Amino acid sequence: METQAYKRYTITAALPYANGPKHIGHLAGAYIPADLYARYLRLKKREVVFVCGSDEHGTAIANQAMKEHTTPRAIIDKYNALIKKCFEEIGISFDIYHRTSEPIHHQTAQDFFTNLNDKGIFVERESEQYYDERAQAFLADRYIIGTCPNCGNENAYGDQCEKCGTSLSPEELINPRSTLSGNKPVLKPTKHWYLPLDKYEDWLKEWILKGHAGDWRTTVYGQCKSWIDGGLHPRAVTRDLDWGIKVPVQGADGKVLYVWFDAPIGYISATKQWAIDNNKDWKTYWQDKETKLVHFIGKDNIVFHCIVFPVMLHAHGEFIVPDNVPANEFMNLEGDKMSTSRGWSIEMHEYLEDLPGKVDELRYYLTAIAPETADSEFTWKDYQARVNNELVAILGNFVHRIMILMHKFYGGKVEAETATITLQDENLNNELGRLYDEIERSFESYKFRQAQQTMMEIARLGNRYLTEKEPWITVKTNPEDAKLALHNGLLLVGHLACCLQPFLPGAAKKILHMLNWPKDVITFDEGIFFKNGHQLNPAELPFEKIEDELIERQMQKLIAKKEAIEGPAQPAEQAVIPAKENISFDQFAAMDVRVGTILAAEKVAKTKKLLKLTIDTGIDQRTVVSGIAEHYEPEGIIGQQVSILVNLEPREIKGILSQGMILMSENAEGKLNFVSPINWMPNGSVVR
Ligand code: 2FM
Ligand code: ZN
Repeated sequence: METQAYKRYTITAALPYANGPKHIGHLAGAYIPADLYARYLRLKKREVVFVCGSDEHGTAIANQAMKEHTTPRAIIDKYNALIKKCFEEIGISFDIYHRTSEPIHHQTAQDFFTNLNDKGIFVERESEQYYDERAQAFLADRYIIGTCPNCGNENAYGDQCEKCGTSLSPEELINPRSTLSGNKPVLKPTKHWYLPLDKYEDWLKEWILKGHAGDWRTTVYGQCKSWIDGGLHPRAVTRDLDWGIKVPVQGADGKVLYVWFDAPIGYISATKQWAIDNNKDWKTYWQDKETKLVHFIGKDNIVFHCIVFPVMLHAHGEFIVPDNVPANEFMNLEGDKMSTSRGWSIEMHEYLEDLPGKVDELRYYLTAIAPETADSEFTWKDYQARVNNELVAILGNFVHRIMILMHKFYGGKVEAETATITLQDENLNNELGRLYDEIERSFESYKFRQAQQTMMEIARLGNRYLTEKEPWITVKTNPEDAKLALHNGLLLVGHLACCLQPFLPGAAKKILHMLNWPKDVITFDEGIFFKNGHQLNPAELPFEKIEDELIERQMQKLIAKKEAIEGPAQPAEQAVIPAKENISFDQFAAMDVRVGTILAAEKVAKTKKLLKLTIDTGIDQRTVVSGIAEHYEPEGIIGQQVSILVNLEPREIKGILSQGMILMSENAEGKLNFVSPINWMPNGSVVR
C-alpha cells in the first residue's frame, strides 16, 4: 500500500494528437488503465482530478492538414470531436477533456516558458537547419525525407526511419528532400531556446535512479536509466513553424514552442479550466506536496514524461513532479504491430459502430491482456473466448443464477427475521476480505490486470458456493439453509458489483439495477446489506455470447482494410541463394549419405545453437553435434528420420566427438528443416 498518505490525486492520460482517429492499442496503453485508477480512487472516496485533452500542435497536425488538403484548424476540430466522443462512449471518466488550442493553454504555456526564460534556465543557440527556399520555410524534421544511412530506405523521415526504426536527425539523411516542394533544402542559421537537460543529470539520478528504483515499473525505470547513463543533452524547446504557440519573446517571429514543450503543460491548463468550472484551486493539484501526480502513457512517451517534463517542473520550482509513470508497452494485433496508416488497426469509432453495446467486453479484454510488463497481442478469437468463457460463463452466470433463484423461490423479496440481512458465512467473509485486500493492493501498485483477475475470483467464489450449497435442492429439504445460501449469494453479487465498477461500469450499473440498490454506486468499504423486505428487480443477463460470425466478419474487415492500402498480400518472395561451382560425379559419389533415426537429443551445455544427437545410422549408433537447437526442441525430434552424411571426418565440437553431419534444408532467412524420406525407410538406406 501507499508509503505516504496523499490528500489528493492528479491523474493525467497522454494527450492524443488530434490528427486522426485513435485505435484500441492507444486505449489499452494509456486510457483504460488511467480510467481504472481514477474510478478506483473515487470509489475509495479519495479526491481526484483526471485530466486529458487533444494535443493540437506540432508537425503531426500540420502534416495531416496537408494530406487532407485543408487547414490545421479543420483537422483538430474534426478529430478532437471524434476522439472525445469515442472516449465518452467507452466510459473513460475524464473530469475534463481539454484542448491545447484553447487560449488558456496558450497563456499557460507561454507563462511557463517566460518563467524559465526569466530565470535564465534556457540556453540560446544558433544552429544550421534545413530551409526550403521555394517554400520559404524552415523544415521540421518530419518535412524532410531522404535515404536512411542505416538501411538504405529512400523515404526515411528526418527524425526516424520507419523501416528500420533508427532515430535520426535530418543532417544524417542522404539526399535530403523537402516534402513541401520536393527540392533539396539548404542549411541556414536559426536561433533556438534549449532546455539544458545535462545540467539536471544529478537531480534525475537522485530522483529517479535512487528514489524510484523500487516502485517504478522495470520497463520505465530501465528506459530512464539508459537515457541518463547515456548522457543527456540540451533539447530545443522552440521550432521554426507557423502552427503552434508563439514564442513569447520579442523578435522571435515565425517561431513556436516545440509541441513536446507545450503538450504536457496541457495537463496543467486542463486542470486550470476544470478548476474554474468547478470552483476549485488548480494550484493544490499541481503544487501541493500532498498531491500525488501520476502520468498514464504508452512506452513511446516515457522520455518526455520521466525526464523532459519533470525537468521543466523542477526548474520552474513551484511544481510537484510525478510520483509514478506507469507506462504500458504496446499491444499488437493479430500478429502484427497496430498501425492506423497501414490499415492494421481497430479504431475506437469502428469498434463502437461494429459492436454496439459491447463496451464492457472491450474494456474487459483490453485489461485482461494489458501490456503492463511486455507487449501483448489482441486477437479476435481470444477476445471471443474471454467474453464467452469468462464474462458470460463465470460472471454473468453467477449473477443470473442468484437473481433467477431469488425470484423463483421468494418472488424477488429479501426477507428474514432480522431488520437487516448481512453475509452470514465465516469462510465467505474471510475469503472476500482477502480478495478485497488483493484488489486494492493491485490497484495501488498499478497492476490492473491482476486487479481484474482477482475481481473475477469473487464470481468464481460465488459459483463454487452455489454448487456446494445447492439451494435448488435444499429449498425442499431444508428451506432455512436454502434461504441463507441465496441471501449470502445475493450479498456476494453486491460485493462483486462493487468491485467490478471500475472495470465494467455498464455491467455494474445493470447489476445495481437488478439489486434495486438505493444509490447508483457502491463505494469501497461501504457496508453491503439488505433491509428486510427489500424487493429485487427482474433478472437480466449482464452479457451475451459472441457468435463466430461476428468474429469472422471482423477478421475479414481487418484484412480488407489493409489490402485497400497496401494491395493484396503477396506471398513473401524467396531470396535466392547463389549456386556453387560444379563438382564431378565422383566427388558427389564420394559422399555416403544414409537414412538414420534420432534416438536421443539434448542441448549442449553453454551453447545456444548446438544439440547432441544419438543417431541410429543402420550401420551403427553414433553421436552427432548439430547446430539446430534454435529450431528444434530436443524432446520434439526423438524418432525423427533424417539424412546423415556418415563418412565425414569426425571432429571434436565443445569436447564432444561428432561423427557425421545431419543434412538440413535452409532458406535465405536461415530457417532450417530436416531432409527426410517422405515415407519411412529402414535406417542405413542410401540417399543418392
Ligand atoms: O504521442 C502522442 O500522441 C502525444 N500527443 C502525447 C502527448 S502527451 C502529453 F505530453 F501531452
Ligand atoms: Zn532505415
